[in-house]
Amino acid sequence: MVPQQLSELRREAQHRLLKAPLGLEDRTAQLEVDMLLEHVLGITRTELLTGRASIVAAEQRTLFESLLVRRERGEPIAYLLGEREFFSLPFKVSPSVLIPRPETELLVELALPYFERQPVSFVVVDVCTGSGAVVLALAHELRRRFGEAYLGGGIFVGSDISDAALTVAAENARLLELHQVVRFVRADLLTAFHPRICRAELALVLANPPYIPDAAELPRDVATFEPALALRGGRDGLDVITRLIQQAPLLLQEAETASLLFELGDGQRPGVDSLLRSAEAATVFDSIKFHSDLAGIPRVVEVSC
Ligand SMILES: C[S@@+](CC[C@H](N)C(=O)[O-])C[C@H]1O[C@@H](n2cnc3c(N)ncnc32)[C@H](O)[C@@H]1O
Repeated sequence: MVPQQLSELRREAQHRLLKAPLGLEDRTAQLEVDMLLEHVLGITRTELLTGRASIVAAEQRTLFESLLVRRERGEPIAYLLGEREFFSLPFKVSPSVLIPRPETELLVELALPYFERQPVSFVVVDVCTGSGAVVLALAHELRRRFGEAYLGGGIFVGSDISDAALTVAAENARLLELHQVVRFVRADLLTAFHPRICRAELALVLANPPYIPDAAELPRDVATFEPALALRGGRDGLDVITRLIQQAPLLLQEAETASLLFELGDGQRPGVDSLLRSAEAATVFDSIKFHSDLAGIPRVVEVSC
């Protein structure tokens, strides 16, 4: 029988998460239980901790129990809550999109300096957009810095091959009030884009593509619950990246200033470097810079044309 008292429910749930094979520490287990309780009860952390809701209604207990069971089985907390924070913004997530990772914020951080001189015309294409996290965080930050009117000078597009992911991205655009600014289109990488859209002062192609080698082992929760389409990049993980490097020059050549920035996996720097220096790409790309994440892993490559 699920306890009715909030304090007891909280204690028991923490105990269950610690017993489940999730490898959680005491504090994380408690934090996760609290996040689930806040979600189910519709209250804040302060309200939870000050005991505003001391008795939990039967309906809420049932819902909490079902979420707890899913968490015990390893489902990521972000899918249970339907939300994950990225670049300090709330993003809706569902099992049809990758849960945005903190290291991907580097892509947004590296894109921002291109706008310091405030180009009048610009195009940002976020391929493999998933939840829309990258392009929406960038547009949100530009609006914060330069105002709503500035966004009107540019084109922001997020694209993905998955219709289900695009539905989530469009919902995020609406929630962040960016649906009039950022468009989402279904496309296999850049194939649907006419080079003409990049005729601007600045063009940026951003991507966090799938790059995990097909045979590489993944943590059980990732492999079981996150979409393979968002993760797997072929035998060496570089299938999608290879095609992106082949396709990007056609578009980027149209702009006065243009760069391609994309995320890569641990250990992929040599492979990516040689793809970028291959005969065809080398005629277009004139500077290649690898940027490391907080763990010191080369995580994003920035290629200028
Ligand atoms: C690693 S996820 C990135 C999601 C999001 N940008 C983020 O950083 O959280 C990769 C995304 O690429 C999409 N994808 C996979 N193959 C693709 C292709 N050929 N063209 C466009 N999108 C593709 C997947 O559906 C998935 O949403």
